[in-house]
Amino acid sequence: MDASTDGDRGTTGQPHGDEADGHHLSRKTVLRAAVAAGVALPVAMMGVPALARTVGANGEPVELTPACDDGDDPTPPQTEGPYFKPNSPRRTSLVDAGTPGTRLTVTGYVFGLACLPLGNVLMDFWQADVNGVYDNAGYRFRGHQFTNPDGTFTLTTIVPGLYPGRTRHIHVKLQAPGRPVLTTQLYFPGEPRNNTDSIFDPRLLMEVRTVGGGREARFDFVLNVPQSTTTRPTTTTTPSSPGGGTWAAGTTYAIGAIVTHNGVGYVCLQGHLAQPGWEPPNVPALWRAE
Ligand SMILES: [Fe+2]
Repeated sequence: MDASTDGDRGTTGQPHGDEADGHHLSRKTVLRAAVAAGVALPVAMMGVPALARTVGANGEPVELTPACDDGDDPTPPQTEGPYFKPNSPRRTSLVDAGTPGTRLTVTGYVFGLACLPLGNVLMDFWQADVNGVYDNAGYRFRGHQFTNPDGTFTLTTIVPGLYPGRTRHIHVKLQAPGRPVLTTQLYFPGEPRNNTDSIFDPRLLMEVRTVGGGREARFDFVLNVPQSTTTRPTTTTTPSSPGGGTWAAGTTYAIGAIVTHNGVGYVCLQGHLAQPGWEPPNVPALWRAE
């Protein structure tokens, strides 16, 4: 590869992060975590054959995306590259009816270190268009969104085009409330350039399948967000109806729990053990007004 054409290496020449050991992904582990957390699993997650994470472009085993099972393997960082722009529009779809390119939907979860889903995580995506060109004047193929209370996200876009020096990829920044930003990239299996791109990291391969004329991809992120098992969502303390409980320190609240505080109703965005000072609306990462 001609490094001089590798526009995504940026001016620092920062290599891709490879300090963390990969772990073999256990779909069962992820499913167990999701089920334990009371998360409704998307249909796309059930019964989908393992694709990207089982074999590399040449049939060799690949180092797999960190499994969300032992609490010490966050998703690896990658260089930002030269094309990030702040202040992207808030949207989950980067396309309209006339946008050229193969339609791509990316779905998945964002977990913390204890494999509990993280809601309200900022995700800022940017990518090249079908011709491998970034829009540096406007915001085409740029957009940010927040994970749902159950930690899920969906991005509707196109398969990005190739440009010199890089394999096919999508850029993303993630930030849980009050936590550092993770900057990384997502990759596609079976791409010839995966073997020659020095930034490429197989732990960041998405699972991709063809559906009709488009593609469906999925990837689960693990952020370096400490989580205690005491924050594991539980239904035992969930009020059964809106206004069914008054916020109280020392109570374990689950995602979706509804409380009242000072006469206002709030819905819980992240499971947690309520502490003094965390009452709504003081902590927007935990409570949203109904
Ligand atoms: Fe790029």
